[in-house]
Amino acid sequence: MAKNPQATWGGRFSAEPSALMLQFSESVSFDRRLAVFDIQGSRAHAAMLAHVGLISPAERDAIQAGLDQLQREIAAGGFKWDTALEDVHMNIEQALTKRVPAAAKLHTARSRNDQVAVDMRLFFKQACAEAQAKIRGAARAILATAGAKADVLIPGYTHLQRAQPVPLAHHLLAWLEMLERDDGRFAVVADHANWCPLGSGAIAGTTLPIDREFTARVLGFVDARGRARVTQNSMDAVADRDVFIEFAAACAIAGVHLSRIAEDLVLWSSAEFGFVSLPDAFSTGSSLMPQKKNPDSCELLRGKSARLQGNLHTLLTLVKGLPLTYNRDLQEDKPPVFDSLDQVALCFEVLAGVMAGLEVKAERCAAAVADPALLATDLADYLVGKGVPFREAHHAVGAVVRLAEAKSVGLDALTLGQVQSVHAAFAADWAKVFDLRRAMAARSGVGMPGPAQVRRQLARWRKVLTD
Ligand code: ARG
Repeated sequence: MAKNPQATWGGRFSAEPSALMLQFSESVSFDRRLAVFDIQGSRAHAAMLAHVGLISPAERDAIQAGLDQLQREIAAGGFKWDTALEDVHMNIEQALTKRVPAAAKLHTARSRNDQVAVDMRLFFKQACAEAQAKIRGAARAILATAGAKADVLIPGYTHLQRAQPVPLAHHLLAWLEMLERDDGRFAVVADHANWCPLGSGAIAGTTLPIDREFTARVLGFVDARGRARVTQNSMDAVADRDVFIEFAAACAIAGVHLSRIAEDLVLWSSAEFGFVSLPDAFSTGSSLMPQKKNPDSCELLRGKSARLQGNLHTLLTLVKGLPLTYNRDLQEDKPPVFDSLDQVALCFEVLAGVMAGLEVKAERCAAAVADPALLATDLADYLVGKGVPFREAHHAVGAVVRLAEAKSVGLDALTLGQVQSVHAAFAADWAKVFDLRRAMAARSGVGMPGPAQVRRQLARWRKVLTD
């Protein structure tokens, strides 16, 4: 008999795998991260086996006590992982079997294929909760700045050209909308993960009288009313990697949001904008230029988003050509999702730190938003108020802008006579349009940047973001 350490399947083999093959095929170096879920799954499986009479209550208790002890050893860092044993499942099973003879029965009616599927579904439920907590942490930091700086106005931009004045808070609350959608996406992914595949076996279930609902309930795979949720096709259950892809997609989309937020901050912190100053704690200096304070934290947020997209792409490509059902290619499904979770969690923590220390330069913001051209659209609306069709009003205001440019004066520095020479509908009250407070107050509809709406939104977010 071969000395193959992988006694779980060694029976059929007469030669051991080469050292290179062991090195090539091991996954325990990264899937050991699943140990806590693997043990949780095995505890539940043992409970089920005893429940249906496939093992005795004493055997169940011995197995569970052994698993608990292993769990403690692993948590304390004392467990010796062996790459020759390939993956987390075999490492744990063999260590357990050495200590608890009854553990030789643990793999009854179970395959590593449904085992890894259940481990990952447990992982995703926790991973989504973690991502959501980090998102909410960053959202709270953004909200705090928005609330504290509610009276600061900045130019809003389209095409990176100054467009119209908006409260800085309105811009920051736009970020919260993005983050809330991310939060919701992770909730959906967690729900999709919430189906128990155990009992699918390798591909075709088992001939043994197992109770799938029992295991599902023990592991928390239940609906809102506490009813067990078990997967409905054994082949799909071991082949399906949709939740991996959905999780990576949620991370990639969150990454796109992080990147856009970061880009706003990079621009705003430049001397050209000067709206904000990033905290020293999240900036770096230059090894050569003593004056430099670089927004590396935000640039890395932007950069990490590429990595999150790459992980999604890896998974899509990994799965796309595979015949049903399990193929060993699928072992490569774990590093990208682990990385996506770690990076997305880190990114939101960094964003929270950047926001918590962000200094808003109110004077620079006020200077930028004082540009009267930002209210050219309001001036067109003014003419509409006087009965002028909007297209005609737009054209007339364009001519007014051209006139001001030709005279090298601000839009609001033209005389009544000059604007009336462009369009007769301009009256003595025309310059009131340039009162910023008035202009903002007029934007009172839902979703608009008027002060009453911003106050309402701030109050809504305070509610949403306190648990
Ligand atoms: N380490 C394997 C993976 O991650 C576990 C499943 C192995 N199943 C198998 N039939 N080799 O995919």
